Amino acid sequence: MMMKVALFIAFCSVCVWGLPTSEKAADRCNTNNCKIEDDCRCSSGNNPIADKDNPAPQLIAITVSESVVQTLYDDYLAPLFFDRKNPDGNPIGLTFYVPHEYTDYTLVQDLYVRGYEIGDHSITKNGSQEYWRQATLEDLEEEFGGQKTIISTFAKIPAEDIVGVRTPQLQLEGDVSIDAYVNSEFKYDNSWPTMSTELFLPYTLDYASTQRCTVTMKCPTESHPHFWIAPITNIKGANDIECNSLATCLVEGTADEISTWLLDQVALVKNDTRAPLTLRLDSYWFSFTKNSYEGFTKFLEEVGTQDDVFLVSVQDVVDWIENPVPATAYATPVHDDRTKDCKEVSCTLTNIDGGVRYMKSCVPCPDVYPWKGNPLGEA
Ligand SMILES: *[C@@H]1O[C@H](CO)[C@@H](O)[C@H](O)[C@H]1NC(C)=O
Ligand SMILES: *[C@@H]1O[C@H](CO)[C@@H](O)[C@H](O)[C@H]1NC(C)=O
Repeated sequence: MMMKVALFIAFCSVCVWGLPTSEKAADRCNTNNCKIEDDCRCSSGNNPIADKDNPAPQLIAITVSESVVQTLYDDYLAPLFFDRKNPDGNPIGLTFYVPHEYTDYTLVQDLYVRGYEIGDHSITKNGSQEYWRQATLEDLEEEFGGQKTIISTFAKIPAEDIVGVRTPQLQLEGDVSIDAYVNSEFKYDNSWPTMSTELFLPYTLDYASTQRCTVTMKCPTESHPHFWIAPITNIKGANDIECNSLATCLVEGTADEISTWLLDQVALVKNDTRAPLTLRLDSYWFSFTKNSYEGFTKFLEEVGTQDDVFLVSVQDVVDWIENPVPATAYATPVHDDRTKDCKEVSCTLTNIDGGVRYMKSCVPCPDVYPWKGNPLGEA
């Protein structure tokens, strides 16, 4: 901190009048000094592959950000996704932003070994807006860095493979959130929604973002070099409402109608800039919306017949934009180098309130239930 203040004073002894009010507000982006080869990309809706005759692949990232438990795995993940292939014959990708409470870490390792991306969704997944609004840098590091420690320890996944983060309720808290992510060595955030009519592709925060800032969140204004924002692309739901979680789009109907609605949302983007799409899937959608499971299955089957549409992880989306190729040259990234390394144990643990929590782990049980401030669950 002293260092930053000193630097600022040194900088400002030569600076001109009329400095922006924020001492560190990021500069406007210019594609001349922000190039992908330097791990920099201006915020925009421009697709790096803009050749109409040889267009970009339409990438779709299906994302799940709820506790990984046996019923989710058995009832939905296994039947919907495990045998599913992209048009190139490779298995599809998915991203799981894993929160801590109730999560079974042996299943998290299983998903990782199957090739899916494991990301981070905080330890507490606290449902209070106020909680996140009040959170300090240290709180956020404990929430997100702490959850990375929990996942890497108890699911035995290399910490460096956990690169993506999504904040609960998509409640980004501006620069302090990004600082916490950077300090916890994450690469990208997937919490910032776009309007369905203003699609953005992933970009870095080296320079000021031009993505619209919605009222429920605080947007970063400072420069965070090489940190990526993978926007969540809104789609249109019932009565054309803007939405970004399949459950909150409130579309009802027959399985055919639900499938057609989703295919239409993909067609709109595919026919436009081919910005990658993010679909947020919550399993409660399947229990409270009739025909949603059948409709979603139908959608997955139909979309799988389009040879330029690929279901991938958000990490794969960022990797693609770092090395963009057209659909004809795209191959679904395969992560088949991960081997199972899990000695399953069931732990009965005391949580911070004195209550009991059960946790399945790939390594011997900790002393107490891991929590914010004590991710290793030490006595
Ligand atoms: C959420 O935050 C509030 C304080 O804002 C706290 O009282 C509550 O215990 C927290 N819940 C969890 C699950 O951490
Ligand atoms: C795609 O765009 C073309 C013209 O830009 C239009 O004629 C066509 O109807 C569009 N298709 C879909 C599925 O939106």
